[in-house]
Amino acid sequence: MKIGVIGSGTMGSGIAQVAAQNGHLVYLIDTSQQALSKAKTNLSQTLNRLVDKEKITSEQAIQIGSSIQYSTDLNDLSPCGLVIEAIVENLSIKHELLKKLETVVSIDCVLASNTSSLSIASLGSILNNSNRIIGIHFFNPAPIMPLVEIIPAVQTSELVIESITEIIQKWGKTGVICKDTPGFIVNRVARPFYGEALRIYEEGIADFATIDWAMTHFGGFKMGPFTLMDYIGNDVNYSVTESVFESFYFDPRFKPSFTQKRHKEAGYFGRKSGRGYYDYTEGVELPMPNENEEIGILIFNRILAMLINEAIDAALMQVGTTEAIDLAMTKGVNYPKGLLKWADEIGLPKVLEQLEELFSTYGEDRYRPNALLRKMVKEQTNFY
Ligand code: NAI
Repeated sequence: MKIGVIGSGTMGSGIAQVAAQNGHLVYLIDTSQQALSKAKTNLSQTLNRLVDKEKITSEQAIQIGSSIQYSTDLNDLSPCGLVIEAIVENLSIKHELLKKLETVVSIDCVLASNTSSLSIASLGSILNNSNRIIGIHFFNPAPIMPLVEIIPAVQTSELVIESITEIIQKWGKTGVICKDTPGFIVNRVARPFYGEALRIYEEGIADFATIDWAMTHFGGFKMGPFTLMDYIGNDVNYSVTESVFESFYFDPRFKPSFTQKRHKEAGYFGRKSGRGYYDYTEGVELPMPNENEEIGILIFNRILAMLINEAIDAALMQVGTTEAIDLAMTKGVNYPKGLLKWADEIGLPKVLEQLEELFSTYGEDRYRPNALLRKMVKEQTNFY
């Protein structure tokens, strides 16, 4: 099957590489010739590195490189069986593209979007044949991150879901089916990792370095929340939070933080701007945490309880199965354990107790323990 990828930026170029590595002929389309040239140069550097590391042979590198055709002409996509769009995150621009695309491709070509925040149903609404729309959400960098969220819209046919699930599996990726709800699994369930860390900082309980230390030291997370936000970019991370908050009709669980907003407004984006929560200027030392166990455990328990509560809500609302929710967080954002498995290990009554304590202290809806958690504690059941 020939594959089309539209948008040759960060995500599109990575997805094109994945498809080419799996033996497909790929058409990579962009309106910008400059973006295409950059994608081509980057791919050839990546392939050379893979040859140097003996991950692939030089013959394979040549084969993969020559499997991608770069073009600014959408009409080149006519022979494709699957087209994945990874253009700018804007509904009207994506609509315009999908409408044009439908006039180019065959009737049975699957049209997929890599969108992070738009609903797949809304994307499909522009199509004459909307049962071919589906979300295929890769994580950055696409060739390395194993997780792919597969998001059928209400319009998507069973056949399309089956064929995409099969392709994603053939590409060696871990596909999880998610409901078409804001943030899908990962970008929804991960919100408290950032939001609760920011709240703890805002209340003056601890500084950035101490919160980061608590999560890496006691939780085994690869990066603390502030290091991770600086890595992702505070502009990007803030707009995901804002979009999830708005999409959930302003549920206080997802309320964005003024601290992050101010950092974004100041241009303190993180690593890419040289300064975020930390100063990345050469020679400047990173601040040391206050390694007080009691505070560290309090921070870790609070953030983890909020993460678990969110994962349980995703389970209650059937955004994904128990296994899908745990796989998504371990394979999509490298969490040390699936949150539902973690909840079982801690003991659901203990998690409920921690949340009830937060809820009674603050009296805010943000901390309300999930109904499924209450029910499971009452019935003395576990996720696994
Ligand atoms: P990007 O800005 O790196 O690349 C977008 C590319 O699309 C640019 O090269 C641009 O010239 C091209 N483009 C814009 N309008 C176009 C059109 N009408 N036709 C053809 N090409 C067009 O963006 P990025 O980060 O790769 O994001 C792309 C999509 O993937 C977005 O929907 C985003 O939400 C999603 N996404 C991004 C992730 C990330 O970490 N960057 C992760 C997962 C999903």
